[in-house]
Amino acid sequence: MTDRYAVVGNPIAHSKSPEIHAAFARETGDDISYERLLAPLDAFVATVTRFQREGGRGCNVTLPFKLEAFALAQEHSPRALLAGACNTLAWRGTHWFGDNTDGPGLVRDLDVNLGAALRGRDLLILGAGGATRGIVAPLLAAAPRSLTISNRTPGKAEELVQVFAVHGPVRALAPAALAGEHFDLVINATSSALTGTGAAAPWPDAIFAGVALAYDLMYAGEPTAFLRWARAHGALRTADGFGMLLEQAAESYLIWRGVRPDTAPVYALMRGSRRPDAHAA
Ligand code: ATR
Repeated sequence: MTDRYAVVGNPIAHSKSPEIHAAFARETGDDISYERLLAPLDAFVATVTRFQREGGRGCNVTLPFKLEAFALAQEHSPRALLAGACNTLAWRGTHWFGDNTDGPGLVRDLDVNLGAALRGRDLLILGAGGATRGIVAPLLAAAPRSLTISNRTPGKAEELVQVFAVHGPVRALAPAALAGEHFDLVINATSSALTGTGAAAPWPDAIFAGVALAYDLMYAGEPTAFLRWARAHGALRTADGFGMLLEQAAESYLIWRGVRPDTAPVYALMRGSRRPDAHAA
């Protein structure tokens, strides 16, 4: 019988996950189906529960339900516990197992696909919302020299530092305090397509001077506004979050199926080019 999986969110029509997982299944020879599930904003649990009763074996969970997925799961991976949010649910016969593959997906894209060294480097994350919370611990596990979180509302960055300080050298700096600091990697983890113009971005252009790689957790068919901003002010290389999307999906596939698909052919298929050339400066 075909094993059923789905991505649950609201909105969900734009999700590329069905295409990605269909490509993975062709690669591994697995007989699976993977669909989009639009959950009403007040009915995430009911939607997932119905899907499971109809044969669903696992789900990816996207905005705005990652906290509800965490609450629904009765068993969690250590990395889901650290993130306090789940993007992956796997049915374990009697209950949902919750995991979070976003952070590991980012680290693998940086490390394996882009060859961006993290160990001993100085990292900067812009934003202190849910996306940042999910990536801080996996980044600290890669042993950077420092990890700075800078947020438009500084208090939220300071809260995250309180949570993650036990895991490594993390600090919060207000946007204006970044002038004069040097970073090797700058990550946009805000929910905004930062443009660097007008009042939209509170950070100085100088954060990009001599940066080896600027990385946007968002992705688009073209370089994002953040990546164009970074490139214009000195970032040597840029990459958007499409690679992370593929890697988090492959990690979910591993949790469900016990095999980790190779993302390189799927990147080439969906982007029409091999990485990381597409977004190299
Ligand atoms: P997510 O789960 O995507 O991280 P979130 O929890 O709502 O979403 O967090 C959004 C993040 O993007 C926050 O860090 C937010 O900054 P504030 O805490 O100051 O609100 C940041 N953000 C959103 N729009 C922004 C903008 N135009 N400029 C700078 N930061 C922005």
